[in-house]
Amino acid sequence: MAVEHRADDWNEYRMEYQNPHAVLEPLEREISVVDGILTTLCDEGVLDHTAYDHAKMLAHRQAVRDRFDMPWTAITPRMQRTLYAISAIAQPRNMIAAGVFCGNTFISNAGAGVGPGASYAAENLIGVEIRPEEAERAECNVRTIDPTGVARVVAADAIDVVSDFDGTIDLLYLDADGDAGRGKGIYLEILEACLDKLSPGAVVLAHNSENQAERLASYLAFVRDPANFRGSVNIVVDIEGLEASRR
Ligand SMILES: C[S@@+](CC[C@H](N)C(=O)[O-])C[C@H]1O[C@@H](n2cnc3c(N)ncnc32)[C@H](O)[C@@H]1O
Repeated sequence: MAVEHRADDWNEYRMEYQNPHAVLEPLEREISVVDGILTTLCDEGVLDHTAYDHAKMLAHRQAVRDRFDMPWTAITPRMQRTLYAISAIAQPRNMIAAGVFCGNTFISNAGAGVGPGASYAAENLIGVEIRPEEAERAECNVRTIDPTGVARVVAADAIDVVSDFDGTIDLLYLDADGDAGRGKGIYLEILEACLDKLSPGAVVLAHNSENQAERLASYLAFVRDPANFRGSVNIVVDIEGLEASRR
């Protein structure tokens, strides 16, 4: 049976996609909701602890707000904090994010490894976007946060990038919406293309576990099977949702 952590107000907590920096709730409430998630992730073996640097998270958020060109995003502040915290705790040396659009999701994942929110040393934080013009915008955005190039965006098909990656993947983030036929069903294809490269204990995150649950049925069945992943939690902090799984 699926393990779920659902915030009591998940369906009322709404953002305007064109106004991503709007404050939706008091900071204390946001922190407490995310702390609840992190505790469940620990209980289910997806994370080892719940501690992350709150001041660095806010420094990261401020830099994105000041520097990013972002036409829209579906990443709520709760989700931004959740992604940042998971990376700050898991500390992936190598991370690949599939389907990054303008880079906001990617930098939420990468922000604990580079820039003003950095709390550990990463090696390769790679965002993949198939549309070249969006990949270019995302890469420009990411450069404003991380001049080093540890975090970078490539214009390519995520299936090719994970297949060709030379190394182990410590965190895989899935958000690609595929083509008309596959849609978010492409998540399972991307995961299967790099399953043997996931490091022991790797974390795999899938956005839209709630509002695309039907399309993601095969993916969700796969990561929730204990034969494939040691733990998996459907995090419903907002109407989009995030499935967090640990290899
Ligand atoms: C819906 S957007 C993600 C937006 C993100 N959830 C946000 O709120 O900021 C999905 C992106 O995946 C990209 N994409 C689709 N198929 C892909 C693939 N095979 N490889 C890489 N990117 C892909 C699309 O071009 C699109 O920009």
